[in-house]
Amino acid sequence: MNAVITAVGGYVPPSILDNKKISKTVDTSEQWIEKRTGIKERRIADDDTAVSDLASGAITNLIENYEVDPQEIEVLILATATPDHMLAPAASLVCEKSNLQNAFGLDINAACSGFLYALELAGCLIESGRYKKVMVAGADKMSSLVDYEDRSTCILFGDGAGAVLLEASESDFGLLKSILHTDGSGTSSLLVPAGGSKIPAGMQSLLHRDHYIKQDGAYVFKKAVAAMSSVSGEVLTSCGFSTDDIDWVIPHQANLRIIEAVGSNLNIDKSRIKINIQKYGNTTSATIPLCLWDFKDDFKTGENLLVTTFGAGFSWGAACIKW
Ligand code: ACO
Repeated sequence: MNAVITAVGGYVPPSILDNKKISKTVDTSEQWIEKRTGIKERRIADDDTAVSDLASGAITNLIENYEVDPQEIEVLILATATPDHMLAPAASLVCEKSNLQNAFGLDINAACSGFLYALELAGCLIESGRYKKVMVAGADKMSSLVDYEDRSTCILFGDGAGAVLLEASESDFGLLKSILHTDGSGTSSLLVPAGGSKIPAGMQSLLHRDHYIKQDGAYVFKKAVAAMSSVSGEVLTSCGFSTDDIDWVIPHQANLRIIEAVGSNLNIDKSRIKINIQKYGNTTSATIPLCLWDFKDDFKTGENLLVTTFGAGFSWGAACIKW
């Protein structure tokens, strides 16, 4: 039994934060941001919108456009690094808001790799034969973790959500193979230090601004390029593919220069790489499903997609999907 993507949905909040607005609040310029990251603008959710609202926006969009019966969904896997609450799972709220009354739901957090990790788990559930319809959503409200006084991070992130429906199929389409990696020694290079069990939220963490995202940007950049390039090679080899067999590359959208460097390492022309970072910035768990949603009309049945990502943890991976 194979797991095939049969429907795609997306949602971004309406409010736009462009480079011009950012350059009025921190010491940067529109040109610097666009040149160093490729980002022109990002979407920011309002105070009343939590990640469960973003995810259910994407799922509702999918359900309406593809006329899916929400009662038939058996599992919801929500990839997010910004759940509504530290405890209870955001997936419970998403099941309620999206009317997935017969599904059990769970959150997973693998930062920017969350969606690919969730896709692999969903694929295994379907391949086991025990489940036939699994919803996978990637959603993040990164504006809740971003320090808008830190010019090296506030330029990068945005809010959004995407979702795909995986269904059991006896065809040879769908999720062909994915390879995922984790290296915890990278944790200190990219994290939100406080708010978890190591440094619970408190006055000290607020004073140190430790409830915001911190990173060694240049180091993360280098690691991302190397890891996404090598894991893409691994998954291609394990599928018996060369880059010529790949019709489209869907990379995690963190920085246009990371995407271009990975494309160049893989020797894949930019015309075959899907890029929407200019509109949304880095939406963490949502970049890949948002890209699938934005470009779904370009993918023809039977085409091969290479999806690759890198994020906090460090966590990274790649997958080949026959559309
Ligand atoms: N505007 C102007 N100058 C800036 C800004 C800014 N917004 N941000 C940093 N700078 C300055 C630095 O202070 C530094 O100045 P200095 O030379 O006087 O010390 C200079 O620019 C160069 O700094 P670098 O960090 O080397 O700049 P770089 O070109 O690497 O760009 C960036 C920084 C955009 C953060 C880049 O490193 C990056 O994108 N890294 C990847 C991080 C990332 O993607 N994190 C997200 C999660 S992980 C993931 O999704 C893969």
